This record gives sequence, C-alpha cells and structure tokens, in this order.
Amino acid sequence: MKLFLDSANLEEIREVAGWGVLDGVTTNPSLCSKENASFEDNIRAICAVCPGPVSAECVSLEADEILVEARGLARLAPNIAVKIPVGLEGLKATKALHAEGIAVNMTLIFSAGQALLAAKAGARFVSPFIGRLDDVSEDGMALIEEIAQIFENYRFETEIIVASVRHPRHVIEAARIGADIATVPYGVMEKLVRHPLTDLGIERFLADWRKVKK
Ligand code: G3P
Repeated sequence: MKLFLDSANLEEIREVAGWGVLDGVTTNPSLCSKENASFEDNIRAICAVCPGPVSAECVSLEADEILVEARGLARLAPNIAVKIPVGLEGLKATKALHAEGIAVNMTLIFSAGQALLAAKAGARFVSPFIGRLDDVSEDGMALIEEIAQIFENYRFETEIIVASVRHPRHVIEAARIGADIATVPYGVMEKLVRHPLTDLGIERFLADWRKVKK
C-alpha cells in the first residue's frame, strides 16, 4: 500500500520523506491555510521534495472555471494531481482533464455512487473521507470496502485514497481491505511507528548491555 502524507507543511513532508516511506502528498485549502508561504510557492516546494503525486485543490465550482484553475495548478510541477470536489461540474471538468492527461483526485467522496461516477469520468484517484463519516456515526471503512469491490468488479484503474484518517487502526484496516493508498496526517504517521513495548525493550537491552563484559 502506498502512504501519502496529508499535510501542506514542508518540514513534516521532508521529515517523512527521510523515513523512506513517502509515496505522495495531499493538501487541501484548510491545510494550506496553516502555512506561511504563498500557496503556489509552497506547492512547488512540496513537489520538489516529494517525487510522487502531490494533490493541490481547485476552489472553483463551475466546470469552465475549474478547468482554467486545474490547468494552472498542473503547470506548477509535473507531479501535480488536481483535487476537485465531486459534483456535476467537477465530473465535467474531470472528463476534460483526463483527456488532456492531467491527473484528477476527486475529493469529498462520501458514497460509493460518487466514487463510481468519478472513476467513470476518468479520475486517477478518489478520496473517500472516512473519519468524517465515522464522526456522524456512519462506517467509513465499510465505504472503502464497497468502493474497492466495485472498482475490482470492473477493473477501474482509479486508485482509492483513504482520506480523513484519524488513527493508526484506520491505516491498518485500509491495508487489510487492500486500499491502494492511505493519506495520513503527520501525527498518525508517527503513532504508526511507535509502540510502548518497543521503547521498553530498547531500555532493557541498553540496561543489560551495560552489564556485558567488554
Ligand atoms: O485528506 C482529507 C483530509 O485532510 C480531511 O481530514 O481530518 O479534516 O476530516 P479531516
């Protein structure tokens, strides 16, 4: 499974790239609003650090305007994937962008029907937001299973990005289901590597090492 970092923070992205586990980055307007650098400069810098796909989101709502904005974003770097919220106008734009060879990450997916239409329109990625579904007492992971089954049935090449990840179990369950990608916030990425028994084990080994005759 590929791991993307769900962040617009260059330091976090550099750090995780250094761990050797970074396959891509997803940003959104909320994440970008936390950074000091200008939006375009920041996206260019992220693309230089991360060779994998970097999602940058369109904020236009009409297909013609989405197209202009998406083409502009795609010119920032060769590894840009343009994020477009699912909807009728977004689908029209996705069809045209797919024909132009621009990768689309169709975002704010909350149903299998939305994912199916996104795949048919030519989206390279779909981003179902599982944490936000869990927040309203729905089952985010069940949606991932449903979409994975549909894409498998019809051999869609569209990849599933499990998004709105809140804790390590989300990542592990996504991997068990066989989702292509999980996009993970920095804090959750750190939690994935830590275990108290690992820390305790290191402490004990170091204490015993001090007793070894050298
Ligand atoms: O990738 C989408 C993600 O950023 C949304 O996460 O935690 O705002 O639901 P959250």
